[in-house]
Amino acid sequence: MHKTVWTLLFTLAASNAWATTAEETYKAVCSACHTQGLAGAPKLGDAKAWGKLIKEGQVNLSADGYLGVRGMPARGGRADLTVAQFANTVVYMANQAGGNWREPDEAMLKKMNARIDKRSAAKK
Ligand code: HEC
Repeated sequence: MHKTVWTLLFTLAASNAWATTAEETYKAVCSACHTQGLAGAPKLGDAKAWGKLIKEGQVNLSADGYLGVRGMPARGGRADLTVAQFANTVVYMANQAGGNWREPDEAMLKKMNARIDKRSAAKK
C-alpha cells in the first residue's frame, strides 16, 4: 500500500477516530440488526419507521435505546458504549432516514442522563 495511506490509517487508529465515529459504531455494533431489520428493528434509511421514532424526540429515543426496548438490547449489546457514543450513533441513524438531528451538546446529554437515571431507578 502507498505510504501516505499507511500514515493516514495509523493516524486514524492512533487518534481512535475509528472506533468513535458514529458511522463506524453503527457498522460495528448496530448494523447486525438494523441493516436487515432483524427482530423488527427499524431499518437504516427507512423513513417511515424512523419518522415515527424521530417524533419521540432525540432525548427520549436516545435514552430509551440506551436502556433497551423490547428486542433492542441495552446499548445495542455493547456495554462499553457511553451515552454520548450511543446518542451520536442514533443521530447517524435518524439522519440516514431523513432526520435533521445534531450530535447532542452537554445540555442535551444531561437530559438524556437524567432520563436514563430515572428509568433505571424505576426498573429496580
Ligand atoms: C440484537 C439486535 C440489535 C442491535 C445489535 C441493535 N438494535 Fe436497535 N433495535 C433492535 C430492535 C429489535 C428494535 C425495535 C424494538 C421495538 O420497538 O420493539 C430496535 C430499536 C432501536 C431504536 C428505537 C428505540 C425506541 O425507543 O423505539 C433505536 C434508537 C435503536 N434501536 C438504536 C440502536 C443503536 C444505536 C444500536 C447500536 C449501538 C442498536 N440499536 C443495535 C435491535 C437491535
